[in-house]
Amino acid sequence: MNDLTQTPFGYTDGDVDTNPSTEPTLNQLADERFSRRQMLRGSSAIVAATMGGSVLAACDSNNDFNSDAAPTVSAGTAATTTGGRVVTLAGTATDDGSVGAVAWTQTGGTAVTLTGTGNTVTFMAPSVAAATTLTFQFAASDNTGHTATATTTVTVSPTTLGFTAVAKNKLDVVTVPAGYTVAIGARLGDPIATTVPAYKNDGTDTNFAQRIGDHGDAMRWFGLATTGTARDETSSTRGLIVQNHENINAQYLHPTGQTSVGGVRPEGEALKEIECHGVSVIEYAEGANRAWAYVPASTLNRRITPSTPMLFNGPAKGSDFLKTPFSPNGTDGRGTINNCANGATPWGTNLTCEENWAGYFRRPSADVAGRTAKEVASLARYGVTNANGNNSWSTVVPADATNTLFRRWDARISGATALDDFRNEPNQFGWVVEIDPYSPTSAPRKRTALGRLGHEGCWPGAFVEGKKPAFYMGDDAVNEYLYKFVSATAWVAADATSANRLSIGDKYLDAGTLYVAKFNSDGTGQWLPMVYGTAPLNASNAPYPFASQVDILVNTRLAADALGATPMDRPEWTAVNPANGDVYLTLTNNSTRTPANTDAANPRAYIDPPSTSISNRNGHVVRLKETGNTTEATTFTWDIYAFGAGSDLDPTNINLSGLTADNDFSSPDGMVFARTSHPGGLVKPLMWLQTDDSAFTDVTNCMMLAAQPGAVGDGGARTVTNTNAGGTAFTQATRIGAAPGANLKRFLVGPVECEITGVDSTPDGRTLFVGIQHPGENGTPAAPSSHWPDSQTGAAGATVRPRSAIVIITKNDGGVVGL
Ligand code: FEO
Ligand code: CA
Ligand code: CA
Repeated sequence: MNDLTQTPFGYTDGDVDTNPSTEPTLNQLADERFSRRQMLRGSSAIVAATMGGSVLAACDSNNDFNSDAAPTVSAGTAATTTGGRVVTLAGTATDDGSVGAVAWTQTGGTAVTLTGTGNTVTFMAPSVAAATTLTFQFAASDNTGHTATATTTVTVSPTTLGFTAVAKNKLDVVTVPAGYTVAIGARLGDPIATTVPAYKNDGTDTNFAQRIGDHGDAMRWFGLATTGTARDETSSTRGLIVQNHENINAQYLHPTGQTSVGGVRPEGEALKEIECHGVSVIEYAEGANRAWAYVPASTLNRRITPSTPMLFNGPAKGSDFLKTPFSPNGTDGRGTINNCANGATPWGTNLTCEENWAGYFRRPSADVAGRTAKEVASLARYGVTNANGNNSWSTVVPADATNTLFRRWDARISGATALDDFRNEPNQFGWVVEIDPYSPTSAPRKRTALGRLGHEGCWPGAFVEGKKPAFYMGDDAVNEYLYKFVSATAWVAADATSANRLSIGDKYLDAGTLYVAKFNSDGTGQWLPMVYGTAPLNASNAPYPFASQVDILVNTRLAADALGATPMDRPEWTAVNPANGDVYLTLTNNSTRTPANTDAANPRAYIDPPSTSISNRNGHVVRLKETGNTTEATTFTWDIYAFGAGSDLDPTNINLSGLTADNDFSSPDGMVFARTSHPGGLVKPLMWLQTDDSAFTDVTNCMMLAAQPGAVGDGGARTVTNTNAGGTAFTQATRIGAAPGANLKRFLVGPVECEITGVDSTPDGRTLFVGIQHPGENGTPAAPSSHWPDSQTGAAGATVRPRSAIVIITKNDGGVVGL
């Protein structure tokens, strides 16, 4: 419609246009040809070329017969970018009258979503396998109805690590690259219900069953619908973060540290320490201007502690191994402890893993009377040999004499039967535990089919319709093994959306075959089935005769020993490359590795100054490719993705991956691939690698790196020379992947005395959650050695206590974090 108030010199005959159609009439098109000629006469050649012939589609008032011309438009110059980055399209339009409506549309290439309106819109560059050109059209109308268009192109190349590496440092802050912002999420002690007072952080706080626990570890985002409590796997603005709370810095939990150590521990202190362990399920939401916060009032918030009722599932359920005074039928479990890495299922549940549980139990060496030889062997193999138990919880004399929450940590035989003492309580731990985060009252299920280990994590491989899914699991102690559980049940994709999530867990996780890995020196490997009956896993095995499949699942380490699995340099997290199925395993270090006992998959023993010990100080990351690229495979090939090392160390025998100042690291631990729901998880996926280190700490605090790894076999064979203290050289052949080069960069350095552990993003990859664990772990209440996270935003008082916390990292331009 013509509008005199907005048309400074255009003609109007005063007629009211009563035709609501926006389609041009024949007369309009005829008029437009006239207008175009006018415009071309009065415009530069550049504008004419930009507009091309598309202006013929423009329209005009059928009564506009003066010289009024269509707008002069530009869509800007052609641009290039890489996947996952935000692209801004800025159009300009001028007119001899005034510019009315403007709009951007995509006219070619991989479809993207344009955000915004008007002259300037943005989109996220998609993931592409090769350079791909996208075309866009900018259209502008004037107020007499002429429209003109211009086009531009954006050529998108494959994703790269799009940031400048963070320098190693020992600052008491989280350092991230330029262009990124760090916010603090939930911290140790923060209330998870509105009735709980704010955390004073002076050692007087109580009720940690309704506060965030200590030592936040692995985490996973579970999306929520915009309102209500329903699961929405796609949500990037509202969700639940399930996070493990592995351990405690006990000195900061009480006014002056732990009291009565070596005596009878006070009930209140012990309760606090116990409740700081376990798992939290906490709602997070994005507010205006990308401000993220956890939601203290959410009805879905939950703490799972070492006291939370659970159920045993799978073959060991109901067995004698699991019977205690609390669980006389061997079917009930009580809590989870020392939860380290994790796993996530496509049906919307979290797998939490019980790692260094053994140390919590009181079991001095005298506890052998009344034990069978097999029990003694089992307790020794799992390290249930702590004379007092961590924190001496079992010494508490509770006010309620029937309360066994403290006595249960005493594993000594003291009664007549297993129902009279807690001799079997250690068997209740060491499992993978499945949690339904969307059901805050559901009892977590301990999945005994996955074996009993120092379970670090439990990451699944690809879920392929009709194939049996697999879960990869490290057992974190020196010279322990890598395991795989293959479900007995082939995957049915419809199960991913079931409302009864734990029953889907029953379907896939309660029956199957457990395997342990053997790495051969020629770059091949086998998954050895841990099945009762076939030698050596039968009653003839020595020194530990197996009585049943349940015996194997409860004493998994002993069965793996019998099978001749390959002892590894502390198997930590597993991760699976979603693009090619390669399985990665961090091997954090091994203080017992010597030049004389290396093997192809654990090939280094060397000195990393200032230490003078000869061992695998800095760790490495091994990876394997399943034969046929299927989760059901029983053989694989392997190589070593990267070796940790300072960049100053010998490139021939130590710094074998050619690390530089931009990517040298030590003691890899946490490791997660990006989700496939954003460009970072596709084609050449981003992998986050986190350190839990005490060898490189003379140079830097712990860190997180971003990687875009290649594939198993992209390097070749190498021979390493390790030299012992006497100067004798030992050669070791191994398999090394291509040097990571610029495809591995340091993204983050944490505060003083922390470990970086746990990472996940929202499904869009634009918000990254990272766990900062135990800052200031070596300090005292009077003189904390870190004041983080208070120190993140300015100088903190000298006695401010450090707190484990989640950091929330966003890229300032809104792009995918890391790209
Ligand atoms: Fe809890 Fe193996 O780190
Ligand atoms: Ca005009
Ligand atoms: Ca760990």
